[in-house]
Amino acid sequence: MRKLTYFIATSVDGFIGDPEGDGNFFYQWVGGEFLEYLKAEYPETISAAGLAQLGVDASQAKHFDTVLMGRGTYDVGWKLGDASPYAHLTQYVVTRSLTEAPDPAVTLLQGDVAAEVRRLKAEDGLGIWLCGGADLAAQLVDEIDEYVIKTYPVFAGTGMPMSRAGFAPRELVLEDVRTFDGAVVVSRYARKR
Ligand SMILES: NC(=O)c1ccc[n+]([C@@H]2O[C@H](COP(=O)([O-])OP(=O)(O)OC[C@H]3O[C@@H](n4cnc5c(N)ncnc54)[C@H](OP(=O)(O)O)[C@@H]3O)[C@@H](O)[C@H]2O)c1
Repeated sequence: MRKLTYFIATSVDGFIGDPEGDGNFFYQWVGGEFLEYLKAEYPETISAAGLAQLGVDASQAKHFDTVLMGRGTYDVGWKLGDASPYAHLTQYVVTRSLTEAPDPAVTLLQGDVAAEVRRLKAEDGLGIWLCGGADLAAQLVDEIDEYVIKTYPVFAGTGMPMSRAGFAPRELVLEDVRTFDGAVVVSRYARKR
């Protein structure tokens, strides 16, 4: 059974973007040791355009071969003309409003999303990356097996939360913590079942 991992960037106070979801204010910390770590450990989470720019090959990915995006998350690249942002992965976009995939490399998911995720988990392969955003993470909160949280040294005050799930504490087990450049922290937690 493969895992669903919420691999996400956040402020110290748990916001993944500004109130509209824009996370551009995080990019100033994507560099140095942290970028080297991403390139070596999680290259598959870098967009295809980013991989090309960095000269990185994600074909030997260790963690994910599939990405799941809410339509709001997919929109970020699509609005910039990139309808297949993670072409090196099997890409699913969860949507009620889109009826036709904007790119042949993208599959739309509708209906019971949690059941669809359980179906994907039962397939062979590497893990499934839940890319975001807050709405989809809330729909799938009980399917998330692992959290990889990239915390940037900024207190946003308000913004888009990591999930819009209601209050219901779910216990996690801390499995790894790393710090980079004395600034960025990457924490990995497993869901305690
Ligand atoms: N900091 C980070 O690492 C990070 C990562 C990813 C995203 N983000 C940010 O998160 C923002 C997007 O988050 P969001 O919460 O607004 O949107 P989202 O979760 O990405 O997508 C929400 C959309 O997904 C579809 N959806 C959700 N549940 C569904 C269901 N059960 N069945 C069918 N469709 C369903 C709906 O699409 P339709 O409206 O088409 O029906 C809904 O409007 C972006 O601005 C992005 O920048 C940040």
